[in-house]
Order: sequence, then structure tokens, then C-alpha cells
Amino acid sequence: MCGIVGYEGTREACDILIDALSRLEYRGYDSAGIALLGQGEIRIERRKGKVEELRKVLKGAALKGSIGLAHTRWATHGVPSERNAHPHRAGDVVVVHNGIIENYLELKEHLKGAGHVFISDTDTEVIPHLITDHARKGRDLVDSVRLALKELKGSWAVGILKESERTLVAAKNQSPLIVGVGDGEYFIASDIPAIINMTNRFIFLEDNDMAIFKGRDMRIINVDGEDVVREVRQVCWTAGMAEKGGYSHFMLKEIFEQPQAISDTLLGRAREEEGEVEFEGVDLPDPAGIRKIWMVACGTSHHACMIGKNLIETSLRIPVETDMASEFRYRDPIVSPRDLFIAVSQSGETADTIAAMREARSRGASTLSICNVLGSTLAREAENVVFTHAGPEIGVASTKAFTTQISVMFLLTLCIGKRLGIFGPQDVRERLREIRAIPRKVRSVLDEAPSIQAAAARYMFFRSFLFLGRGINFPTALEGALKLKEISYIHAEAHAAGEMKHGPIALIDDDMPVVCISPADRTYKKACGNMEEVMARKGNIILISDDETHEMAPRAGEMITVPRTAYELQPILSIVPLQLLAYYIADLLGMDVDQPRNLAKSVTVE
Ligand code: AGP
Repeated sequence: MCGIVGYEGTREACDILIDALSRLEYRGYDSAGIALLGQGEIRIERRKGKVEELRKVLKGAALKGSIGLAHTRWATHGVPSERNAHPHRAGDVVVVHNGIIENYLELKEHLKGAGHVFISDTDTEVIPHLITDHARKGRDLVDSVRLALKELKGSWAVGILKESERTLVAAKNQSPLIVGVGDGEYFIASDIPAIINMTNRFIFLEDNDMAIFKGRDMRIINVDGEDVVREVRQVCWTAGMAEKGGYSHFMLKEIFEQPQAISDTLLGRAREEEGEVEFEGVDLPDPAGIRKIWMVACGTSHHACMIGKNLIETSLRIPVETDMASEFRYRDPIVSPRDLFIAVSQSGETADTIAAMREARSRGASTLSICNVLGSTLAREAENVVFTHAGPEIGVASTKAFTTQISVMFLLTLCIGKRLGIFGPQDVRERLREIRAIPRKVRSVLDEAPSIQAAAARYMFFRSFLFLGRGINFPTALEGALKLKEISYIHAEAHAAGEMKHGPIALIDDDMPVVCISPADRTYKKACGNMEEVMARKGNIILISDDETHEMAPRAGEMITVPRTAYELQPILSIVPLQLLAYYIADLLGMDVDQPRNLAKSVTVE
């Protein structure tokens, strides 16, 4: 997820753009750049690092111009660097982009064959070259952009500026882009926070819209060249509210971003037509030669590993061993050169996980990391890396990282299973259809947020919770307990439901809510037995299930229903109500939800 801003008006644009860009840094902050068109040619400045680095450079550069673009990057292709920073240029066209161009490699090869020279590793750079390629055939900017966009596959929000025509174009498909309407001036931005202090009148562009700005006039067409009418809407937000997209906290925003984050993580990889899963640039060892897969991480990422173990072992019959990274190296692990070691980390900077991966590599294992941050240590040091495209996760409590990590593991299982001949194209196609439906199903759970908030008000004063789950639902229970304890400071522990009678049942009384994750899966009957045991001791059950007719529902204190899906994907749906329950309890208690006491977003110490 990146941040885009643009300006066309009568004022000097440099400071306007940089100030606007700095309000989008929550969308990405590994590199930034600006392009300004003054009286002469377009001037570009780009820097690795935060917007502040760019601001320092501009102090001496005295870039002039009343039309321009700027961009702050969250790298998806090509490590954070000046060379990969936006804007990207071809001829007299510059482009800033947020999204993922799925077919950029084939477009790049085609353009190279036509004599275009590329300097970056990004997917974005194909866009200005495509536009210029069309312009060389006598087309103006608007037609060149229309035709270029029709050749793209994937997601984009783009700002495009052409020097010779002094024209700025904004276009979108699946990534957000808005137009700000000022007095005799226009703005474009990825999100409201960037420009809320300059206007509260916005046009929310829709997929395949193109807004064209020239000489302080604006018109909107679609990629077929037809005029489009879009309403100018007034938004009454403060700048602070706007940065969180109107949500009270980043955590809540990130919980609600999960459908988009999962869609973005699938983009370019889940190929239903071919019945394939492709991870660009990943060269896995021959799966037939793998003795064991290790999945090692900390905290939420470790819970995702436990789910990954379920996915891989039940489908591929390859042994998987999971471990907490902080424990891994103290057990003198028996690692073979025929092992695949998978390190999972949102930040890619967790010291324990880095140390564990280095230990495994020193013992000969192949390494793969699943990370959310390009250019992070784990992403750079692993032989292979698969990125979750969740966008920046600002809230300390990890949410969208967890559900996108599981999504990657599901795709990885299909990819390896296909290579092992366990899955044919039709098997892959059917399973991809299932995960493609997940974002919509997550949205339907999010629609229940008000009732979960009401439940939170009923449970906010309990001082201890138990979370129970069997099979693949046990890691979900662990994750639900972690969410609650780390942001509300209420004691919460999770157990494999079958273990309850071996000790934890002593805790049960009417002052101990028990969250039971019990979908209608292979663990259902046994889970019902556990709930009977809880109720026999006056335990108050909060039931999470995909089965409205669950036999324990009539006697549960609360019942939260989630949609049904494949057994392996159920945790993605079951965790959402638990994320929301934890959030609302903490918020009602007035806790610092985004920055809980004693915690850090990335634990870079061992
Ligand atoms: C999760 O809510 C916590 N903030 C924490 O457990 C986190 O998952 C853990 O520190 C691992 O972080 P990583 O995914 O960045 O490696």
C-alpha cells in the first residue's frame, strides 16, 4: 500500500505536495519522491527513507511549479531504494502508482523488445513506458493512458503527468484514489488525510475512471473514453480522524482492511484459469526431497505457523514442526539439509525469528520467509521470500498480518501439492475458488461488529477468560487470547479443548467466560462434550461457530456465527470476531489500543 498525492492549480505545489504526502506515511514509508512541472521540464527528486528525507533535499533544490505528483512507497516489487522510488519516468511522462501490476514482467519484456530501457526493479515502471509507447504512435496523453491501462492486469491507482501537454491524469482500478476539489485548484490523493486540511470536497473515483486536469479544468472519463459524472461529496472529518480512515484506532482500521489485504495477497498468485499458484521469484527446493518443514515465529505469527502445520500435514503428508523462535535454538534442533525452514514475521525484524533462521541455515536447511515488509532483514536473508501484501500494520496488535499469513500458507500448500502431483489443476481451481470467497465472507463477519461491540460491553469487567479450541481451532484460540490480553490487560489463556479436563477445568466458575471455537468440523462432537463440562461448572460460554444450529447454541451466553468455508480456512473467519471482541473490550475500558503498555510493534531485541 503506498501513498499518492497530486496538485494542479495556481499555487507553488512543492510544499503542498510534501505536506500532503507526510500525512500519508501510515500507508508506506520506505522511500518517497516528487515530480514538479514548472515553466520548463519536469523536475524529479527521490529518496530512500521517510518523507522527511525528501523534504530535507528539497530545501536546497528550490523545485518550482504549480502542477505535480508525489509518492511515499510501501515496496511490493523491488527493495526500498532511490532507484525503485516513485515517480518513474519514460520520455516526458512521469507516473506514481499504488497497487500491483500482475502482468508487468510480460509487458516489460515486450517493451524492452521495442527499445525501452528500464532502470528499476518495480512493476510500476512499465506504466510510463507503455504510455510513451502509445504516444510514439501519435496519440495524445489521454488516449495513450486509456490504451495503456487496458493492457494492465492487477490493481492500480496512478497519477500521470506529461510535460509537453502540461496535463495531469488520475486513474484507478481496485486501489483507492480520490479527487479533492479546491477553489480554482484540484488535488488527487490515495486517502482523505492527505488533503483534508485543504478541502473537504471530494470525488471518490470508481474503477476504470480517469480524471483529467489541464489548465485548472477537470473532466472524468472511463477507459473507453466515455464521459462520466461523479458526485462531489462533502466530508466532515478532522485530520487526525482521517488518518485512521475515520476509525478510532489503527487496529480497528486494520481489522476492517482484512478483506482488501487478503485480496491483495492473492493478487497475481491465485490463477484459477490455469489451475495454478505462482509465487514470482520464488525457487523452492524440490518438494519431493523435503524431509521436514519447520515453521518458526513469535506471537501471532507463531499461531499462524500452527495453522500452517495443519494445512501442510493434512494435505501434503510432509512432516511439519512448529516452534517459538525464542525456543528453537536452545533445543539443539535436529535440522537436516533436506529440511525447509519457514520463518514467519510481519515486520521481518523480530530478533528471535532472525536468530532462529540463521541457526537453521547454519545447520544446512533451505530457508523461506513469509514477511509483510520488503527489504526487512528476514526478507533479505532468506533464500526465498513470499510477501503478504497486507500494507503497513501500525497497530501493535497484529490482525491483518495473521489472516494474510494464513492465506499465503494456503497458497503455498497448493503450490507444493501441485508440484508433488497431489493436486491436479481442477483440485487447485476448486480450492482457489474457496479462498477467493474469503474476503467477502470476512466482510460478512465485519458486518456483525455492532453486535460484537454490544457483547463486549457485557464482558468487559470480567478479569479472566479461557479460550478453547480443538484441531485447527486451537491456534485460533491462542490468537484470540493473545489479542484480548495484550490490549485490554485482562488475563486470558487458551488451551486445546481436550486438555481442559487435565487441569484448566479447575478454573471454571461463573466468573470465567469461556470462548469456545467450534465450527461444524471434524472436532465438533468432542467440542460439544467440552462445552458440556464447562456448563456443568456454571461456565459462561461465548460460542464462535459456522453452524447456527449448533447444539450448544441455546445454552451459550453468547453465540457469534461466522460463514462456513474449508476446514483449513476456517481460522481466517473465526478469528475476526475475536479480534473485534478484544478491540471493543479494550476500547470500552479506555485502553491505549494501538500502543498497549510494555509492548512494541516489532521486538528487535532477544
Ligand atoms: C501480536 O499481536 C503481537 N504484537 C506480537 O506477538 C507479534 O505477533 C510478534 O512480536 C511477532 O512479530 P512479527 O510477526 O513482526 O515477527
